[in-house]
Amino acid sequence: MTSIKQQIKLLPVHIAFVPDGNGRWAEKRGLPRLAGHEAGVKKMRSLVEYLNELKIKYVTLYGFSTENWGRPEEEVHGLFRVLGERIEKDVPKLHRKGVKVRHLGRIEQLPDWLQVSIRRAEERTKDNTGLTMSLAFNYGGRVEIVDAVRRIVTEGIPPEKIDEKLFSDYLYTAGIPDVDLLIRTGDEWRLSNFLLWQTAYSEYYFTDVLWPDFTEEDMDKALVTYSQRERRFGAL
Ligand code: IPE
Ligand code: MG
Repeated sequence: MTSIKQQIKLLPVHIAFVPDGNGRWAEKRGLPRLAGHEAGVKKMRSLVEYLNELKIKYVTLYGFSTENWGRPEEEVHGLFRVLGERIEKDVPKLHRKGVKVRHLGRIEQLPDWLQVSIRRAEERTKDNTGLTMSLAFNYGGRVEIVDAVRRIVTEGIPPEKIDEKLFSDYLYTAGIPDVDLLIRTGDEWRLSNFLLWQTAYSEYYFTDVLWPDFTEEDMDKALVTYSQRERRFGAL
Protein backbone atom coordinates (compact mmCIF):
# COMPACT_ATOMS: atom_id res chain seq x y z
CA MET A 1 0.00 0.00 0.00
CA THR A 2 2.28 2.74 1.18
CA SER A 3 5.99 3.08 1.53
CA ILE A 4 6.00 6.50 3.12
CA LYS A 5 5.43 5.00 6.56
CA GLN A 6 8.70 3.08 6.36
CA GLN A 7 10.59 6.12 5.17
CA ILE A 8 9.77 8.43 8.02
CA LYS A 9 10.24 8.07 11.71
CA LEU A 10 7.69 10.52 13.02
CA LEU A 11 4.18 11.09 11.75
CA PRO A 12 2.14 14.05 12.95
CA VAL A 13 -0.87 13.27 15.16
CA HIS A 14 -2.91 16.27 14.00
CA ILE A 15 -2.69 17.82 10.53
CA ALA A 16 -4.62 20.98 9.67
CA PHE A 17 -5.21 22.16 6.11
CA VAL A 18 -5.91 25.56 4.64
CA PRO A 19 -7.00 24.39 1.20
CA ASP A 20 -6.37 27.39 -1.01
CA GLY A 21 -6.36 27.90 -4.77
CA ASN A 22 -9.72 26.47 -5.87
CA GLY A 23 -10.66 29.66 -7.70
CA ARG A 24 -7.33 29.93 -9.55
CA TRP A 25 -7.49 26.24 -10.47
CA ALA A 26 -10.86 26.86 -12.15
CA GLU A 27 -9.81 30.12 -13.80
CA LYS A 28 -6.78 28.42 -15.36
CA ARG A 29 -9.17 26.01 -17.02
CA GLY A 30 -11.67 28.66 -18.09
CA LEU A 31 -14.23 27.24 -15.66
CA PRO A 32 -16.43 29.06 -13.14
CA ARG A 33 -14.94 29.41 -9.63
CA LEU A 34 -17.55 27.02 -8.30
CA ALA A 35 -16.10 24.22 -10.44
CA GLY A 36 -12.88 24.78 -8.51
CA HIS A 37 -14.69 24.47 -5.20
CA GLU A 38 -16.34 21.30 -6.44
CA ALA A 39 -12.96 19.79 -7.34
CA GLY A 40 -11.49 21.04 -4.07
CA VAL A 41 -14.16 19.62 -1.81
CA LYS A 42 -13.98 16.29 -3.66
CA LYS A 43 -10.26 16.18 -2.98
CA MET A 44 -10.92 16.23 0.74
CA ARG A 45 -12.37 12.72 0.86
CA SER A 46 -9.57 10.95 -1.00
CA LEU A 47 -6.96 12.73 1.07
CA VAL A 48 -8.70 11.92 4.35
CA GLU A 49 -8.94 8.26 3.29
CA TYR A 50 -5.22 8.26 2.54
CA LEU A 51 -4.35 9.82 5.90
CA ASN A 52 -6.66 7.39 7.68
CA GLU A 53 -4.72 4.53 6.08
CA LEU A 54 -1.51 6.09 7.40
CA LYS A 55 -3.13 6.06 10.85
CA ILE A 56 -3.11 9.83 11.25
CA LYS A 57 -5.53 10.53 14.10
CA TYR A 58 -6.77 14.08 13.46
CA VAL A 59 -7.32 16.11 10.31
CA THR A 60 -8.88 19.55 10.37
CA LEU A 61 -10.03 21.24 7.17
CA TYR A 62 -10.77 24.94 6.76
CA GLY A 63 -13.88 24.77 4.56
CA PHE A 64 -15.45 28.18 5.15
CA SER A 65 -14.17 31.01 7.29
CA THR A 66 -16.21 33.67 9.06
CA GLU A 67 -14.54 36.11 6.62
CA ASN A 68 -15.72 34.16 3.55
CA TRP A 69 -19.18 35.74 3.99
CA GLY A 70 -17.61 38.73 2.25
CA ARG A 71 -17.55 36.84 -1.07
CA PRO A 72 -20.37 37.29 -3.63
CA GLU A 73 -23.59 35.70 -2.42
CA GLU A 74 -23.67 33.38 -5.39
CA GLU A 75 -20.26 31.94 -4.51
CA VAL A 76 -21.13 31.60 -0.80
CA HIS A 77 -24.33 29.70 -1.56
CA GLY A 78 -22.64 27.65 -4.22
CA LEU A 79 -19.98 26.68 -1.70
CA PHE A 80 -22.58 25.62 0.86
CA ARG A 81 -24.32 23.52 -1.77
CA VAL A 82 -21.09 21.83 -2.79
CA LEU A 83 -20.10 21.18 0.82
CA GLY A 84 -23.54 19.78 1.61
CA GLU A 85 -23.52 17.49 -1.42
CA ARG A 86 -20.11 16.13 -0.52
CA ILE A 87 -21.16 15.47 3.06
CA GLU A 88 -24.14 13.47 1.81
CA LYS A 89 -22.05 11.54 -0.73
CA ASP A 90 -18.78 11.08 1.13
CA VAL A 91 -19.67 10.60 4.78
CA PRO A 92 -21.21 7.13 4.25
CA LYS A 93 -17.95 6.06 2.58
CA LEU A 94 -15.80 7.60 5.30
CA HIS A 95 -18.05 6.08 7.96
CA ARG A 96 -17.35 2.60 6.59
CA LYS A 97 -13.64 3.32 7.01
CA GLY A 98 -14.04 4.32 10.64
CA VAL A 99 -13.72 8.09 10.21
CA LYS A 100 -15.38 10.31 12.81
CA VAL A 101 -16.80 13.67 11.68
CA ARG A 102 -16.82 16.79 13.81
CA HIS A 103 -17.81 20.38 13.14
CA LEU A 104 -15.87 23.42 14.34
CA GLY A 105 -17.40 26.89 14.19
CA ARG A 106 -20.64 28.81 14.54
CA ILE A 107 -22.96 26.25 12.99
CA GLU A 108 -26.12 28.21 13.84
CA GLN A 109 -25.38 30.79 11.13
CA LEU A 110 -25.27 28.17 8.36
CA PRO A 111 -28.39 27.34 6.31
CA ASP A 112 -30.72 24.97 8.19
CA TRP A 113 -30.36 22.12 5.70
CA LEU A 114 -26.58 22.25 5.99
CA GLN A 115 -26.77 22.23 9.78
CA VAL A 116 -28.96 19.13 9.61
CA SER A 117 -26.55 17.45 7.23
CA ILE A 118 -23.53 18.19 9.44
CA ARG A 119 -25.25 17.15 12.67
CA ARG A 120 -26.40 13.91 11.04
CA ALA A 121 -22.86 13.14 9.90
CA GLU A 122 -21.53 13.78 13.42
CA GLU A 123 -24.22 11.64 15.01
CA ARG A 124 -23.73 8.78 12.58
CA THR A 125 -19.96 8.62 13.05
CA LYS A 126 -19.63 9.51 16.73
CA ASP A 127 -18.59 6.04 17.87
CA ASN A 128 -15.94 5.58 15.18
CA THR A 129 -12.37 5.15 16.35
CA GLY A 130 -10.38 5.97 13.20
CA LEU A 131 -9.30 9.40 12.05
CA THR A 132 -11.28 12.38 13.37
CA MET A 133 -12.08 14.74 10.51
CA SER A 134 -12.99 18.18 11.79
CA LEU A 135 -14.79 20.45 9.35
CA ALA A 136 -14.26 24.11 10.08
CA PHE A 137 -17.31 25.66 8.38
CA ASN A 138 -18.10 29.19 9.44
CA TYR A 139 -15.01 29.04 11.61
CA GLY A 140 -12.91 31.96 12.83
CA GLY A 141 -10.00 31.67 15.27
CA ARG A 142 -10.72 34.91 17.10
CA VAL A 143 -14.42 34.21 17.30
CA GLU A 144 -13.59 30.77 18.73
CA ILE A 145 -11.61 32.46 21.52
CA VAL A 146 -14.43 34.97 22.11
CA ASP A 147 -16.97 32.13 22.28
CA ALA A 148 -14.77 30.31 24.82
CA VAL A 149 -14.50 33.42 27.02
CA ARG A 150 -18.25 33.94 26.87
CA ARG A 151 -18.92 30.40 28.02
CA ILE A 152 -16.35 30.58 30.80
CA VAL A 153 -17.90 33.82 32.08
CA THR A 154 -21.47 32.52 31.70
CA GLU A 155 -20.57 29.45 33.74
CA GLY A 156 -19.07 31.66 36.45
CA ILE A 157 -15.69 29.89 36.46
CA PRO A 158 -13.51 31.59 39.11
CA PRO A 159 -10.43 33.34 37.62
CA GLU A 160 -7.92 31.25 39.60
CA LYS A 161 -9.34 28.10 37.99
CA ILE A 162 -8.65 29.40 34.48
CA ASP A 163 -5.45 27.97 33.01
CA GLU A 164 -4.35 26.82 29.55
CA LYS A 165 -5.82 23.37 30.01
CA LEU A 166 -9.23 24.65 31.11
CA PHE A 167 -9.27 27.24 28.33
CA SER A 168 -8.54 24.55 25.70
CA ASP A 169 -11.53 22.62 26.92
CA TYR A 170 -13.79 25.57 26.07
CA LEU A 171 -12.57 25.86 22.48
CA TYR A 172 -14.46 24.20 19.62
CA THR A 173 -11.55 21.74 19.48
CA ALA A 174 -12.02 20.47 23.06
CA GLY A 175 -10.45 17.02 23.35
CA ILE A 176 -8.44 17.36 20.13
CA PRO A 177 -4.65 17.76 20.56
CA ASP A 178 -2.79 20.83 19.23
CA VAL A 179 -1.90 20.93 15.54
CA ASP A 180 1.47 19.33 14.70
CA LEU A 181 1.55 20.22 11.03
CA LEU A 182 -0.30 22.98 9.23
CA ILE A 183 -0.40 22.77 5.44
CA ARG A 184 -1.49 25.64 3.22
CA THR A 185 -1.71 25.22 -0.54
CA GLY A 186 -2.11 27.86 -3.24
CA ASP A 187 1.10 29.80 -2.56
CA GLU A 188 -0.30 31.99 0.22
CA TRP A 189 1.79 32.25 3.38
CA ARG A 190 -0.73 33.20 6.01
CA LEU A 191 -2.71 31.62 8.82
CA SER A 192 -5.90 33.58 7.97
CA ASN A 193 -7.49 33.34 11.41
CA PHE A 194 -7.32 29.54 11.48
CA LEU A 195 -6.76 27.65 14.76
CA LEU A 196 -4.88 30.55 16.40
CA TRP A 197 -4.57 28.89 19.80
CA GLN A 198 -3.97 25.37 18.53
CA THR A 199 -1.09 26.24 16.15
CA ALA A 200 1.13 27.94 18.76
CA TYR A 201 3.87 25.32 18.23
CA SER A 202 2.89 23.83 14.88
CA GLU A 203 5.21 23.24 11.99
CA TYR A 204 4.07 25.15 8.89
CA TYR A 205 4.28 23.82 5.37
CA PHE A 206 3.45 26.01 2.38
CA THR A 207 3.23 24.86 -1.20
CA ASP A 208 2.33 26.57 -4.46
CA VAL A 209 0.30 23.53 -5.57
CA LEU A 210 -3.35 24.59 -5.99
CA TRP A 211 -5.62 22.62 -3.67
CA PRO A 212 -7.54 20.60 -6.32
CA ASP A 213 -4.15 19.49 -7.70
CA PHE A 214 -2.77 18.37 -4.31
CA THR A 215 -1.90 14.66 -4.59
CA GLU A 216 -0.84 11.85 -2.27
CA GLU A 217 2.72 12.48 -3.48
CA ASP A 218 2.42 16.11 -2.37
CA MET A 219 1.14 14.85 0.96
CA ASP A 220 4.11 12.49 1.28
CA LYS A 221 6.48 15.39 0.58
CA ALA A 222 4.91 17.39 3.41
CA LEU A 223 5.20 14.41 5.76
CA VAL A 224 8.87 13.88 4.89
CA THR A 225 9.59 17.57 5.49
CA TYR A 226 7.77 17.42 8.81
CA SER A 227 9.71 14.38 9.95
CA GLN A 228 13.00 16.16 9.22
CA ARG A 229 12.18 19.15 11.37
CA GLU A 230 13.31 19.27 14.93
CA ARG A 231 10.56 20.32 17.29
CA ARG A 232 11.86 21.81 20.49
CA PHE A 233 8.79 23.64 21.83
CA GLY A 234 10.95 26.54 22.94
CA ALA A 235 13.54 24.36 24.73
CA LEU A 236 17.15 23.93 23.62
C1 IPE B 1 -10.07 28.21 -1.21
O1 IPE B 1 -9.96 28.54 -2.53
C2 IPE B 1 -11.45 27.71 -0.86
C3 IPE B 1 -12.20 28.50 0.12
C4 IPE B 1 -11.84 29.66 0.64
C5 IPE B 1 -13.47 27.95 0.55
P1 IPE B 1 -10.14 30.05 -3.03
O2 IPE B 1 -11.56 30.27 -3.40
O3 IPE B 1 -9.60 31.01 -2.01
O4 IPE B 1 -9.24 30.05 -4.32
P2 IPE B 1 -8.34 31.23 -4.89
O5 IPE B 1 -7.44 31.70 -3.80
O6 IPE B 1 -9.26 32.29 -5.38
O7 IPE B 1 -7.60 30.57 -6.01
MG1 MG C 1 -7.81 31.96 -1.75
